[in-house]
Amino acid sequence: MSYNTLLFAVEDGVATLTFNRPEKLNALSAEMLAEITAVVDQVAKNPEIRVLLMTGQGRAFIAGADISAFLKFDPLAAREFADDAHVLGAKMERLPIPVIACVNGFALGGGCELAMACDIIYASEAAKFGQPEVNLGIMPGFGGSQRLARLVGKGLAKELCLTGRMVDAAEAKAIGLAARVFPAASFMEECTKVARALAEKGRVSLRAIKQTIDRGFDVDLKNACALEADAFALCFASADAKEGAAAFLEKRKPKFL
Ligand code: COA
Repeated sequence: MSYNTLLFAVEDGVATLTFNRPEKLNALSAEMLAEITAVVDQVAKNPEIRVLLMTGQGRAFIAGADISAFLKFDPLAAREFADDAHVLGAKMERLPIPVIACVNGFALGGGCELAMACDIIYASEAAKFGQPEVNLGIMPGFGGSQRLARLVGKGLAKELCLTGRMVDAAEAKAIGLAARVFPAASFMEECTKVARALAEKGRVSLRAIKQTIDRGFDVDLKNACALEADAFALCFASADAKEGAAAFLEKRKPKFL
């Protein structure tokens, strides 16, 4: 399948989706949103893919929703655009594999929101994050006000969304938005190295860990821990659990399904 706004490639179980409108800093158009969603649907059906990387061509990850569409937006059109983005976020969370945002440059507005819908955010030293919608007389609409607060805390999320200021890679790491920062020159190599390591881990445990953290996050601790205990128990139904323990005891590398 070919796309107008994206590049998509799969190698050794690692899929890489590259936003590809560099002349517009990969601004998120309705077409691009639909194409990203189509890729996520395709990834969900492909058991060969064990990790999904998202990154941007050029200077940006995504510099926000495509502002050129905004002048024509009425509330219904804006609601539809936001709903489509929320559907994508939910589909990304439902994917049974890790999704990594490899933030190579600007991740603003919808770009920051898409990164936050991924399971892990890695930042290049050149990355810049922000929710600058306030400067356009609007507000975040793709989950930014909610996911940012859950990631960095309510006070900091308010400060970032109210001021619209940009955060560099070091600050993103310090506040817990980015998990790690890699040098710009070797950025995708470093991200791919992690993805390859994840691709060798067991599908069952990757899925259980991702889903248990997501499902438990908004639940009270007692019920969240019960979710964890159930998922932990279910892991022992898998061949991977036997292989993991056997490999450790036999002092060899595990070979997971
Ligand atoms: N929507 C539409 N077009 C965008 C865009 C967006 N969100 N972000 C960047 N572009 C376009 C610019 O209009 C410009 O197009 P042109 O060459 O046809 O004029 C091109 O991408 C390059 O951007 P430019 O502003 O010239 O680059 P810069 O390095 O001077 O500034 C930014 C980079 C990211 C600071 C600036 O582009 C910006 O503020 N973008 C909007 C960010 C935003 O508000 N996002 C949230 C939207 S809800």
